[in-house]
Amino acid sequence: MKNILKNKYDLQQIRISGKITANVLEMIQPYIIPDISTEEINKICHHYITHVKKAIPACLGYNNFPKSICISVNDVICHGIPNKKSFLKTGDIVNIDVSVIKNNYYTDASKMFSVGPINKKNKLLCKIAQNSLYLSLKCIKHGARINNIGKIIQKYVEQNKFSIVKEYCGHGIGKNFHDLPYILHFYNKNDSTIMREGMVFTVEPMVNEKSSHTKCMEDGWTIKTKDGGLSAQYEHTILVTDIGCEIITHQENEKIPKIFINT
Ligand code: MF3
Ligand code: CO
Repeated sequence: MKNILKNKYDLQQIRISGKITANVLEMIQPYIIPDISTEEINKICHHYITHVKKAIPACLGYNNFPKSICISVNDVICHGIPNKKSFLKTGDIVNIDVSVIKNNYYTDASKMFSVGPINKKNKLLCKIAQNSLYLSLKCIKHGARINNIGKIIQKYVEQNKFSIVKEYCGHGIGKNFHDLPYILHFYNKNDSTIMREGMVFTVEPMVNEKSSHTKCMEDGWTIKTKDGGLSAQYEHTILVTDIGCEIITHQENEKIPKIFINT
């Protein structure tokens, strides 16, 4: 419980870490092109995190995860492992998930990239995933119920005829990678947890084109859609404030503000 509410020093460090995570996602954009291998993207991010930012890629070695970031292409929902034999191709939709540790503080964010032009339906899937995350930020403030987040995300996703993955959730973050509170992306009426000023957690909805069901591959990590439909995810690390929230991993090119006032 003592890690859940952050003090001034914690927040100072979390903001530094979050800036680095955001910078990785900004930096990598020009490399998301046809015929690059996912291993090459991993290498570029690893070098940038370790050498340019003097930080640690949190995924590397986490429960024996073998690479520095997760790259999840098309029907991969999450935890895709970068590989020198898999190459991006025109029309792919790609999630890059970056988690860094700086001065012992973790932050976590991911976004979708398109490889060259993508079709209308895939564009919509990515847009709905992003909008679902953005919409949910409007309910975050001290005193609000945590289950409002999942309620908003699920309703919006299903109204748009997509499905929300139930097996993986957001999480508290700070001195630990994964901590309380857990943030479900669907409505759980029995979760009565209340948001408190100083809580930091991720919101990371995974949205599927067809059914929400998942399957884990033989490598023990890669999670795919059961039906082969495509999947999209966006993730931010969020700080709860007295009147709203702050996007700790906010990126330069985002069309929403870094600070939300939700009164
Ligand atoms: N960024 C992922 C998360 O949200 C990290 C998964 S752990 C890994 O928790 F080892 F697969 F990277
Ligand atoms: Co996460």
